[in-house]
Amino acid sequence: MSHAADIAHPAATRPRRFLPAGPLKGTIRVPGDKSISHRSIMLGALAVGETRVTGLLEGEDVLATAAAMRAMGASVERTGEGAWSVHGVGVGALLQPRSPLDMGNSGTSTRLLMGLVASHPITATFVGDASLSKRPMGRVIEPLSQMGASFEASEGGRLPLILKGICPAVPISYRLPVASAQVKSAVLLAGLNTPGVTTVIEPVPTRDHSERMLRGFGAELNVEVEADGTRIITIRGEAELKPQTIDVPGDPSSAAFFLVAALITPGSEVLIENVGLNPTRAGLVTVLRQMGGQIEEVNAREVGGEPVADLLVKHSALKGIEVDPAIAPSMIDEFPALFVAAALAEGVTTTSGLDELRVKESDRLAVMAAALTAAGARIEEREDGLVITGTGGEPLPGTAGAIATHLDHRIAMSMAIAGLASKNGVEVDDTRPIATSFPVFETMLDGLMA
Ligand code: S3P
Repeated sequence: MSHAADIAHPAATRPRRFLPAGPLKGTIRVPGDKSISHRSIMLGALAVGETRVTGLLEGEDVLATAAAMRAMGASVERTGEGAWSVHGVGVGALLQPRSPLDMGNSGTSTRLLMGLVASHPITATFVGDASLSKRPMGRVIEPLSQMGASFEASEGGRLPLILKGICPAVPISYRLPVASAQVKSAVLLAGLNTPGVTTVIEPVPTRDHSERMLRGFGAELNVEVEADGTRIITIRGEAELKPQTIDVPGDPSSAAFFLVAALITPGSEVLIENVGLNPTRAGLVTVLRQMGGQIEEVNAREVGGEPVADLLVKHSALKGIEVDPAIAPSMIDEFPALFVAAALAEGVTTTSGLDELRVKESDRLAVMAAALTAAGARIEEREDGLVITGTGGEPLPGTAGAIATHLDHRIAMSMAIAGLASKNGVEVDDTRPIATSFPVFETMLDGLMA
C-alpha cells in the first residue's frame, strides 16, 4: 500500500518504538464506543429538537461524521469533554452539502451516510484518505441502487464517488451477502425516509447498535429471529425521530488493546472501567478466557441501553486454541489484538473465516502477518486466517526497523502492545492513525507503565 501523503511529507509521520515495559498497574476508562458515537450524531441530526450526547468518542472518524451532518444542515456542537448537543433537521430534510463530504479514514461514516443520503433528494460527493479510497463500496452501492439511488464511483466501486439520492426511494427486502453491520445499517438508514417497510435479512448476526438506537429514537423497527438464527429486521419509513439523551458506553474495541496488554505483561493487573459488552461485540473476552485469560466482570450494569461492566484483567499464562469462526463477527475489529495475544501464548492458535479482515482499514491478515513476523513471531498466513505458534510467554525478539501500519489505527495499537512483551521493542512507522479511534491511547498506556 502506498503512503502518498507520507512520501510527500516524510517528516509528518510520527514513528515510535514501544519498549518492553511492565507490569501494567492501575485503573483506566476507555473512550466512548465508536459505532455508537457515529450513530448518536447521525440519528440526533435527523430528530427535530435537541439530542444530548455524553461520553462521545472525539476521534477523527466521529468528527468526520459530525462535520458531514453539519454540512447537511444539522447543528452539532461540543459543549464539554465528550459532551455534545445536536439539533436535527428531521427525517427527509437533509440539505444538499455545498462541498464534498470528507470521510477521512472512516468506513463507518461513509457507508452509513451513503444510506442516509440515498433516500434524500440530494447529491453528495464522498472522498477519503488513501486507505478508505481502497475499500469496497459496492456492498452498499448495490442495495442502495435497488432503492433507486444512483452512483458514479471510482474504479472497482470505490471512493471518490458521487451519490445522487432519490425521494421517494423504493422499499426493498435485502439479504446481506456479507456479514456487515455497515451494510445492514446503510439499508436501514435509507429505509428511514422511504415509504413503506424496508427489510434486511441477516443470516449471521452483526453488531446491533443501529437497531437498538433507531428504536430508542422512536422508529418502528422490528426484529424476528428464525429457528436457524437468521434475523429479519424491518423498519417503517417516513419515520419521525424524537430527540434523545444518550450516554455512550466505553468502546470494547479500544479496551481490547489493554486487555491483551495486561494479559501478556507479567505482573500486570488493570481495571478497565465502563466497557460496553453488547453480545454482538464481546467475542474477544470469550476467546481470551478460552485461552486462559483471567478477566473478571465487575459492576455489571446498563448504560445508554447497552450492557456494560468494569473488567479486571490480570497477567495470565495463555494457551493457543482453535478460534471458532462463528464468533468472528462479534470480535471482527479485535483480531489484530488477538493475534498479539496468540503470539505470546503456549502452542498454536488457528483462526479462519476471516476474509473480511482483508478489506478493513488495511489488509489486516497480511499486515499483521508481516508485522508480527518482523517482531520475531511465528506466523503462517492463510487465505482466510492466521496460524500462530506462540512463544509460551517468552518475550518476542522485537523489530529491527519499523513495522508498516498502512494508515490502520488498530495495527499501530496492536504492535504497540506487542512491544511491551518484546526484548528490543517494536517500532511502529506512524502512530498518527491512532487518533481516528483512540486519541488518548498512548497517554493511557504510558500512565499504566509509570
Ligand atoms: C462497524 C462495523 C464493522 C466494523 C467497523 C464498525 C459499524 O464493519 O469493522 O469498525 O459501526 O457498523 P463491517 O460492517 O464492514 O463489518
